[in-house]
Amino acid sequence: MAVDYQKEGRIAIFTINRPDVLNAINAQVSQDMNEAMLDFRDDPDLWVGIITGAGEKSFSAGADITGFRPGPAVPREERTERVRADQIWKPFIAAINGYALGGGLELAMTCDIRIAAEHARLGLPEVRIGFMPGGGGTQRLPRFVPRAKAAEMLLTGQHIDAQEAYRIGLVNKVVPLAQLMSTAREWAEAICQAGPLGVRAVKEAMIRGYNMTLEDGLQLERELANRIRSTEDFMEGARAFIERRRPVYKAK
Ligand code: COA
Repeated sequence: MAVDYQKEGRIAIFTINRPDVLNAINAQVSQDMNEAMLDFRDDPDLWVGIITGAGEKSFSAGADITGFRPGPAVPREERTERVRADQIWKPFIAAINGYALGGGLELAMTCDIRIAAEHARLGLPEVRIGFMPGGGGTQRLPRFVPRAKAAEMLLTGQHIDAQEAYRIGLVNKVVPLAQLMSTAREWAEAICQAGPLGVRAVKEAMIRGYNMTLEDGLQLERELANRIRSTEDFMEGARAFIERRRPVYKAK
């Protein structure tokens, strides 16, 4: 498998598994990742996803350059539904274990939280090989970091290190490589302690609300909050608080 997909309790771990080519993304990686994401979305026992890369050198060095052909991208045969991490309301954490370049950084930017190993390097180097980002890089990066910094990274194609990525807000935390997966799991576990339906509604409100006017966003938030108020977990959270015990959420 080009993507190793493991279930650990409520957490799913997606590992891009082509370490010999720095986890470059070919058609097989895309297909395996998509299938795993669909399974994760539809499995009621899974609440948080962690995406990482095999080995110690790279999360992903982006699209597999050896597969580049001239001419427009051939439209994919849509035999199966395509889905991205920012279209699934369960949260995703990117555990960036090295290079996150091109499509690798674009994948990490579809996640909600990014944790980087100290040696990680992040960038959108496509222009350096005569190309341009095609997986959302020109659209997401300027929404995540100051516009001037996005322009610098996109126009020069130069990488930044993990500390700079932290300084500009592109990653949430930088840790030694040995602590990367344990830190990602800790954050995932912390999210799993919260009511999963509330968590998903928060993600939906943040993503769908981003391009709305404030009034429309507030309306969306009210609708989602009303939906949560009629769930079992809403009453369980309140009851557990009053009874001074840990809540037991069922995602219902
Ligand atoms: N596509 C296909 N193969 C890739 C790749 C990619 N995006 N990135 C790295 N590889 C392969 C290399 O060809 C090499 O294969 P080989 O051992 O068979 O020669 C192997 O992965 C290791 O990479 P290498 O370049 O030798 O490692 P390095 O430490 O010297 O450099 C990078 C690491 C990430 C700086 C360099 O590999 C690089 O610039 N990769 C391309 C990044 C990029 O432009 N991504 C956007 C693509 S649109």
